[in-house]
This record gives sequence, structure tokens and C-alpha cells, in this order.
Amino acid sequence: MQMNAPAPRNPIDENRQGLIGKPIDRVDGRLKVMGLAPYAHEVQEGGPPAYGFIVEATIATGLIAEIDTTAAERASGVLLVLTHRNAPAQGAWGPLEAKDRYARASPQLVSPRIEHYGQAVAFVVATSFEQARSASRLIRVRYAPKPGEYELAPNLDKAEIPADQFGQKTDNAVGEFGPAFAAAPVKIDATFTTPFHIHAQMEPHATLAYWRDGRVIIHCASQLLESAQNAVAATLKIAPSKVRIVSRYIGGGFGGKLPIYGDVMLSAMASRQLKRPVKTALTRQQMFHFTTHRSDTIQRLRLGATPDGKLTAIGHETWSHSARFDNFFENASTQTRSLYAAPNRLTTHRSVKLDLPISDSTRAPGESVGMLALEGAMDELAEKLGLDPIELRLRNEPPMDPELGVPYSTRQLVGCLREGAARFGWDKRQAKPGATPQGRWMIGMGVAAATRGNLLMPSKCTVSIDRQGVLTARMSMTDIGTGSYTVFTQIAAEMLGLPIERVHIELGDSDFPETPGSGGSWGAASAGSGLFDACMQLREALAAKLGVPVLDAVFADGRVSGAGRGETLGALAGTLGLEASGEIKPGSMSKAFSQQAYGAHFAEVAVDIDTGEIRLRRMLGVFAAGRVLNQKLAQSQAVGAMIWGVGSALHEDAVIDPRHGHFVNHDLAEYRVPSHADIPAIEAHFLQEVDDKTNPLKIKGVGELGICGAGAAIANAVYNACGVRIRSFPLTLDKVIAGLDANA
Ligand code: MOS
Repeated sequence: MQMNAPAPRNPIDENRQGLIGKPIDRVDGRLKVMGLAPYAHEVQEGGPPAYGFIVEATIATGLIAEIDTTAAERASGVLLVLTHRNAPAQGAWGPLEAKDRYARASPQLVSPRIEHYGQAVAFVVATSFEQARSASRLIRVRYAPKPGEYELAPNLDKAEIPADQFGQKTDNAVGEFGPAFAAAPVKIDATFTTPFHIHAQMEPHATLAYWRDGRVIIHCASQLLESAQNAVAATLKIAPSKVRIVSRYIGGGFGGKLPIYGDVMLSAMASRQLKRPVKTALTRQQMFHFTTHRSDTIQRLRLGATPDGKLTAIGHETWSHSARFDNFFENASTQTRSLYAAPNRLTTHRSVKLDLPISDSTRAPGESVGMLALEGAMDELAEKLGLDPIELRLRNEPPMDPELGVPYSTRQLVGCLREGAARFGWDKRQAKPGATPQGRWMIGMGVAAATRGNLLMPSKCTVSIDRQGVLTARMSMTDIGTGSYTVFTQIAAEMLGLPIERVHIELGDSDFPETPGSGGSWGAASAGSGLFDACMQLREALAAKLGVPVLDAVFADGRVSGAGRGETLGALAGTLGLEASGEIKPGSMSKAFSQQAYGAHFAEVAVDIDTGEIRLRRMLGVFAAGRVLNQKLAQSQAVGAMIWGVGSALHEDAVIDPRHGHFVNHDLAEYRVPSHADIPAIEAHFLQEVDDKTNPLKIKGVGELGICGAGAAIANAVYNACGVRIRSFPLTLDKVIAGLDANA
């Protein structure tokens, strides 16, 4: 089916068994806690593996002048040492303009040229991991380094206009921003900076690769199996059908597993050569340079308004970096195109090529850091106008998408702000900063909007039912820890009138029907709709077997009944079973309606007047994201993402050494993410919403919504607490103290 019209009423709306929305536990929870849900590195398959270890470049740009592997080759247990001198021929990097950037060839060890710190310079395979790692230390590399450029701010004069990305325009303009801003009676012109972010998923990247009958089977941590399959095929110069990617359980994606990396390519090549499985894991330290990161950003926000708080001009310009050999940009200005009304608008993205590893999607690319700037600037404008920040947002609620000129599918930003204000006790907030002392602490409250684009991608699924009345659904979709297995179980069980115990969802295998995988918060909507369509086909087939028109058939308690007849699903399926396929395609609805999920964040912080320490005291998010498939999982996603937001406001900061182009704090001791002690009670609520323009399930993406705006609410609360406005993230106590001193 294709989304060319609003979705009609369907069995998900009827929710006869009440499984849709039900806060059931994760169906894979028991496997997870019992250690029976293996991650790629734990998979035992294909025979005893050899172990690979990647040797990384210790310069950021230049050449390998000399590499001596003799001692490593003679070391105990070593089976193979690959360098640029003996690595197999591979497909050329890219192409840069590929439609799917995660399906590009990514050749390893093909040249003595070093393009970023941490690039692979050698690959050692041995009978044990320890032998491989120990031998890797015996490799001697002499480099001929070249000077490189590693910093965004000093290189802005070299900024380029990047190509459109992910179907979004690089720049957009409506009306006459320049003159309108110049003429605006009330103005904010503020520049925000956000630092490099590392994904910091729990599960490090790892690969098990082996060959069977000319085909390579790869277990790895991948969010997007078809992209990974095509990337391996392009790199190894073999047909995609000769590559099978399996990724059944994944310990967090966060965007870092949208691409696959050299561990996959090198394991596959070494396994072909050695004729045995090769297993390679990245260390946590290696992940900082060998995988992708989020670029730091510089964002200039200009808001012009009338004295009564109507925006007349909105400008959001973002600068970020791309690896010199790549073309990515952080699309932090994008959400500013649809969030608030204003007749004159300008949004741009500029990219500076630097000699750093690849920057790429990280936890809500765009909005995640874009909202730190936009929602900070809105808070500054509200103060300048003497308006409550919620009231300012209410006054700039657009009747339709101000740049696309089409209606919103559903938009409950106002509802979220109002509901949140009531639940949080916003009326107790003092507008004047520093007006709420509590001993040595100063207390403050902040608010920010949340918005995240909603996407639907093409997705396929097959379902079958056997004579025991057990339904099995298969698709290449992944569960990166979000709960995909669980919500798909709920959908299939509800559609066929089965208890959840009689539904088996099989994911994470590129041999299964094609899906877009997990990314961009589109997973549940896209793969869930493919599953929905397959279940609709299966209902037709079962009703036909019973001899009842499907519209008259009732699917409940493991039975189909209608027209005075009834039979169990198992009996109708018979010994051969019944199978059906389904497919969702995006259609005109995604153009005819502006589709976003919305929310409102509220934060209360305490700032220590002497040390500048910031403690988050409580936080609330109220969201509207279409129908909720599982209350518990949606809340868990939202709270998790809000904690990401706490990290972006207060902790996360990967620091580049400007002399050598490497991340100085390349481990989880020095790259800080929130720990339990940083996180107080965080609540998330979802408003009632059903969006029939999005997909047949009438849901929207929730995975990344909760981070969007969360950090801004905290920064705005810090200002309200102590009167220090920090536009450079993260908010650390040195910046608070400097601000307190300046205000004193
Ligand atoms: Mo998400 S960063 O789009 O996987």
C-alpha cells in the first residue's frame, strides 16, 4: 500500500484485544537478562574464529613512509598481517554523491595516505584476541606527517555550500529576511556553539565474518542492513547477493551504526584469505576515531519581533565540519523552517572541510543541537519582550507550515506546552533571574519546545501462520534497543487476534524482506506499516479460507469467525500453513502535509552560588507523536532521549587537540555522559493523538524526539536560576562562574 490518502479506519483503530498502546514488557527482555540475546561479538557460528585487531594511524594527515611488520608476522599465533602493501584490491571510496551514503564503498588499507587520526594502517589476525593485539604493538610505522586543519572556528573563511542532504535543502529563504530583521523593533542576534559529540552506545562495534559457498556471512552491529550489504558488496567488488548481514540484537545505535566500518571490511577480507571465520571488535578508545561523530557547530540565530511578540524575521545559520574526503553537514537549521510563524525567514548550512574523521548522524542529527540554539534564542527574546516564554511561543503558532505552505498533519505544540505547564507548576516560576534562592543554591525553571521530523520509508514484510496458529513475521528491520521486537509483536497479535505469545517476530537478517532499518526515528512507522500491510493480506487469506468476506470477519482469541461460522487460525492455515506479503510505500501524504512530532520540555535546576555547579532537580517532557504503540516503551524512549539532552546541556564534549587532530578525551571516563547521580526524576507523558496522514498505524517517530529541545530547557533554567546566559555548550561550572563574576 502507498500513503496517497489518509489511512482509513482499520483493525489497529478497533484495537479489539487492547494490545495497541498496552505497556507490555519487552518480548526480548528475558533473553537479554539471561544472556541469550547475543550481540555480534558473542555470536559463535561458522567454526572457531581467528581474531583481528586494527592498528590505527597516530597522525591525522600525511603518509606512511615505512611500515615494518616482520616482528608482528613472527609473533606467536599470528596468521595474517595486512597493510596497504598486501591488502586485496577494493572498490574506490564513495561515490560521494551516492543516494545512500551508508551504502558507499569504504576501502581499507589501500594507500599509504593518512586522511584522519585513527585510520587503519594495519590489520593483524591471530588465533586469539590477545595475540593479535600484542602482535599489533610490534608493527613499526614511520610517518611523513603533513600539517592539517582541525578546527572549525579559525577556518570559517573556507566554508563551502554543501549539496542538499537527506532530501532537505541546504538553504531556504522566504520573504526578505535582511530588511525585515533590520527593521524589527525588538531583536536578538546571538551565536551559539555546540561541541563534538560521540555516540557512546553501550555496545562497541564488532564483526564476525565467514564465507560459505562464495558468500560472506557477516554478524555485525548495523542499524541499516541493506545499506551495510551494499557497502560490503561495493567495497569487496562482489554482488550484493553474495553478502548476508545479520544483526539480531544491537546494544544501541544512536546513529553510529548507520554506517559500517573497517572492522566489517577487514574481517570479511581476512576471512576469505584465511578460509576461517574472523572476529574483530573495536575497543572503546578506537571507536572515537575509527567510527563517526557529530561535528561541532557554530549557529547564528537572529530573531526580529514586534513589541507584542510577533516574530517578523527568523534567521538560523549553521556551520559544521565535514571530513575532507566526505560531504556531510549537521542540519541544525532545518527545524527552524517549520517551528514558528514569521513572514521573513532564512536558514542556511555551511560546511568546512577538516582533516578529521567522518562527521555523521548522531542522536537526532539537526534538531538535537539546532534546538539548543533556536530555543535558547527564543528564551532570550521572551525576556527582552517581557513575555513569558510559553506565551511567546503561543503568539507565534503558525496556522500552516510557513515554508512548505501546506497544513500540518497534526501539531499539538500548544497542547504540550499547556499540559506541561500545568503538570510542572510553571506558574510558580519567577520571571526575574536569581529570584529564587535556597541556601547556597539558586533555583530556576526553563522551558523549550520539542520537534522532530516524521518520516515514512518503503518497507516490506512477510508473515506466515502455521497449523499451531503461530504467526511468524520476517523483515530485515533491526531492533537497536528501542523495542522494535515488542511493538511489532503487538501489531501482529492485534491484527490477527492472537495472544502475544503466539507471535514470533524475526528481524535483523538481510535475507529477510527489505526495510529501511532503524534510523531517523522512522523504524516503527515504516517497518510497522509493512507488517501491517502483510497482516491485512493474511487476514484476507484467512477469511477467504473460512468463506467469509474479510470485512465481516472477526479476529479474536486465536479464531476467525463470521456469518455464523468460526475456526481457529491454525486449522485454517492447515498443514501447509498460509503466507502473505505486505509493503508500505510513502506517497503524496508526506508532501501534502508537514509532518513532525512535537513536545514541550520543562526543567528545574539548582546552581551553586559559589562553585557554579549545576544540579538538575527535575524534568518533564510532554509529547504528541501520533498513536502510542506501547506506553511503557514510548516513555522509556522519551526519558532516555531526555537524558541525552541532559548530556548535551551539561556534560558531553569531545575535545580535539588542535595540534594533532585527535580526540583528547577518547574514552568514557573523560568523555562525560550523564550518570545516575546526574539524573533526578524525569517524567514523560504523551498526549492523545492519532495521525491518519502519517501511515496506517497513525503513529509518528518517537525515538529521537525526546532529545530535541531538552538541553535548551536546562540552559534556560540555568539562566532563570542565576542570570548567566551561556551560549557555548556544554554548560560547565567554569562558564557559570565567569558569568556570575561578570554579573557581580
Ligand atoms: Mo538516528 S542518528 O537518525 O540513527
